[in-house]
Amino acid sequence: MTKKSTNTIWHHATITRADKEALHKHKSAILWFTGLSGSGKSTLAHAVEDYLHHAGISTFVLDGDNVRHGLCSDLGFSDDDRIENIRRIGELAKLMIEAGVITLTAFISPFKSDRNSARNLVPHGDFLEIYCQCPIETCEKRDVKGLYKKARAGEIPFFTGIGSPYEAPEQPELVVNTHAQSLDESVQCVVNLLIQRGIIRDPAVSGNASE
Ligand code: ADX
Repeated sequence: MTKKSTNTIWHHATITRADKEALHKHKSAILWFTGLSGSGKSTLAHAVEDYLHHAGISTFVLDGDNVRHGLCSDLGFSDDDRIENIRRIGELAKLMIEAGVITLTAFISPFKSDRNSARNLVPHGDFLEIYCQCPIETCEKRDVKGLYKKARAGEIPFFTGIGSPYEAPEQPELVVNTHAQSLDESVQCVVNLLIQRGIIRDPAVSGNASE
């Protein structure tokens, strides 16, 4: 993307990310959920948020369908529009971790290069890619929004997995098999990842997060 804003100068915050993390008593990070439509990204992201929130942890979910009603309402589903969608979300998530918040993003984000660009926006270790793995047949069977049916009928020409590709992550930090695991099991896997990475303390032990 060409940078159009010139003569702008970065203003360094007086209150830093570290100050905010200290206030919140946990570190911030991006939990980047990726997978087909209907693979359970939003459900899992919101369930993880629910768990973390009740453990006293500051969170925010950026959800594909919701963000496309506002910030990204000018974007459709061409490759270029999806690239721009993910670029904006990557930048937004980067700001959110500066606010000391654990940020959960739930976007199909079908292209590896876009996910890697988002990863490269933030320091190493701050971006945790979580692949919601689910066979397309299962997503299609669930068809919560009735979109697979429409796509098969030719009413949605570039639907991910049908008329448009999904590139599965090769080395995600976590794979969650949403067709085989229960929601609670998947939540626990994500929470364990946060504990292992030192982002939060074990809520079951300390009742709160890490320094
Ligand atoms: S992404 O490809 O740019 O990452 P995003 O996650 O924002 O997609 O939006 C996906 C959601 O938009 C889907 O869950 C579905 O509800 C809806 N949608 C509408 N058209 C399409 C399409 N052509 N492909 C995929 N999802 C679509």
